[in-house]
Amino acid sequence: MQFTLKPVKGEGFIDRQELLEEMFSELTDINSTTGYAVYGKRRIGKTSILKEVQRRLHEEHKIVSVYFSVWDLIEFSLVEFCQKLDMEIIDAYRPLLGLRYRARELIQTPFAVLRKILDRSELKIVYDELEFLISLKEDMDKNLLVENTFSLPEKLAKNTDTKCVLMIDEFPSISELRSNNSKVGEAVIRKIRSIFENWERTTLCISGSIRSTMNLAVLSSTSPFYRQLIIKEVKPFEREYTKELLSSSILDIPEEGIAEIHKFSTGIPFYIQFIGKMLERRGEVTVEGIKEIEEEFLREEGDILFKEEFENLSSKERLIVINIAKGCHTPKEITNSVGDKVSNVNRFLKYLEEKGYVLKKEKGYYVIEDPVFERWLRDRVDV
Ligand SMILES: Nc1ncnc2c1ncn2[C@@H]1O[C@H](COP(=O)(O)OP(=O)(O)O)[C@@H](O)[C@H]1O
Ligand SMILES: [Mg+2]
Repeated sequence: MQFTLKPVKGEGFIDRQELLEEMFSELTDINSTTGYAVYGKRRIGKTSILKEVQRRLHEEHKIVSVYFSVWDLIEFSLVEFCQKLDMEIIDAYRPLLGLRYRARELIQTPFAVLRKILDRSELKIVYDELEFLISLKEDMDKNLLVENTFSLPEKLAKNTDTKCVLMIDEFPSISELRSNNSKVGEAVIRKIRSIFENWERTTLCISGSIRSTMNLAVLSSTSPFYRQLIIKEVKPFEREYTKELLSSSILDIPEEGIAEIHKFSTGIPFYIQFIGKMLERRGEVTVEGIKEIEEEFLREEGDILFKEEFENLSSKERLIVINIAKGCHTPKEITNSVGDKVSNVNRFLKYLEEKGYVLKKEKGYYVIEDPVFERWLRDRVDV
């Protein structure tokens, strides 16, 4: 297999067998509407899991799955969200409906022609939907919009005697949606939940990376989806899977080399893939060579991956993450080191946690969420 930085499915997909089997058996149960909320750090493999589940569901003839990533939105408006999701749903049902054209093509077709193309009764739903999509306007009632989009999979599933698995990647980012310049996201999430409660043939699989927003959206017991979704944390690879991934492409990698890459990446597949790719290019695989590549990665790729994010933090936040990376873990240590009030430091720690940079490991003990980012901060940033 070739190393890749894109989400993987099929042959190159490693580990997660237990989770996949559980999801597969629940999601293929036509009588169950229980869904999944998959969360974990960035680059840990959430999108890959959704895509691999979708690939496996594809072979089941009573199941139709739709994959949609909120991060694919450009404007982040509610209309854009509903429109794009709607089209994905229609497209996922194309084979079952015998629909020859893609939704995107159909919304550009004049009504008169459309009526001719879509004259069979089961296509009436699609026709109504397209008519609605074409007439969408920014100032439309937001409840109506969400209701329309989220009742579409249920309607299509009933009509075709299937179950629809709706996969929404980076779900918590729905809370950022705007309509007419005001934030409507949280109301949208509540609305989705109330529709979800009445679904009989549709279920949701969602993913999210930033723990605190995931908390808002699904994980806490006061949140809208608690009890309707089974919550799963995606963890880094155990060493044996780091090994499997590396040795699938590099045949002669020594055991100590695997150990070194596992330590550096802490089992986060993105970094394993990246180091693997660089290593493959170089040809020679010794522990020394691997260490050099890791340095090079931090220097060159790290600056690309992390610098901009880092610079987008406020100056106080930057100072705090640097200090955590350099070994201060309690608010008191951090406070002493940055020379500020504890209450201020605590406030900034909270922001950093919300943004997914810092993790409160236990009461009063903070760590950097991504260990490679931590190493980059330590090695590459001067205070
Ligand atoms: N199960 C897996 N097997 C092999 N590589 C993986 C696996 N999961 C993720 N990866 C790799 O890790 C990187 C990040 O994966 P992705 O699914 O996009 O993570 P996330 O959605 O959590 O940010 C990609 O380079 C992908 O190739
Ligand atoms: Mg992803």
